[in-house]
Amino acid sequence: MKALDKLVLRLTEEAEGRQGSLFYILNGINEELGYIPDEAVLPTAENLNISKAEVYGFLSFFRNYKTDAAAGGAYHKIVVCRSESCEASGSKQLLEHIKISLNLDFGKYSPDGKYFLDYVYCFGHCASSPAVAVDGILYDKVTPEVFDKIIKNLDFNNLEKPVELKSQSLIFKRCGNINPLSASDYADNGGFNALRRVIGEIKSKGDEGKLLFINELKQSKLKGRGGAGFPAGIKWETVFKEKSAVKYIICNADEGDSGAYADRIILENDPVSV
Ligand code: FES
Repeated sequence: MKALDKLVLRLTEEAEGRQGSLFYILNGINEELGYIPDEAVLPTAENLNISKAEVYGFLSFFRNYKTDAAAGGAYHKIVVCRSESCEASGSKQLLEHIKISLNLDFGKYSPDGKYFLDYVYCFGHCASSPAVAVDGILYDKVTPEVFDKIIKNLDFNNLEKPVELKSQSLIFKRCGNINPLSASDYADNGGFNALRRVIGEIKSKGDEGKLLFINELKQSKLKGRGGAGFPAGIKWETVFKEKSAVKYIICNADEGDSGAYADRIILENDPVSV
């Protein structure tokens, strides 16, 4: 009996009576050999009395499995966000650059087996798009040039000191660090500063103070991240000009972007900021 068949048989015996025996066997082969050779598919299917198609289906669904020997050993996993905010900020061009420069495609290893490319729909870092994770470290505002620097510093033989490109949270900086139900916790951690300033301007200058604030907002080029990218300053100016005694603020907390959790993260962890 060949060594591979023996390995599959041993794993099948160990998996007996467990739930997810196919998962157990494939994980075992992957751990033992560093990849799952094609020759392992038939004995695995026969031992479990399932079809080869089921084993292949499993392998292609869980794309982390390596299926060729060239991909054995260490590799760097690159995960790119393909959701709206990141796409609007250049992730498509970035992806093209990654695919061409490292000879990669989604769910595949580079020919030298050093890199694997995958994607997600939103890391929750939409405010700092485009976001890319490399070996589990999230990087924000990644341009092709920044990506090249990250890869250069990952190079197996490159002993240069890594450049500091790790994510610095701005929008989520209080998340997990304060009691979300405490307004004083929020205030003690930089909350209300801008609001206090704006109210101070309005109190001392009236409508002129309001216009100063709106102009500052327009100059900042702050815009919505809901897909349309509408300038916030123009939105506030429109509301300001509206002749009405009472104006209502409605907060849209719908996470319309599938697989996106940025709004949820803020509402659950830093709701007073909203
Ligand atoms: S859209 Fe890319 S991190 Fe949210």
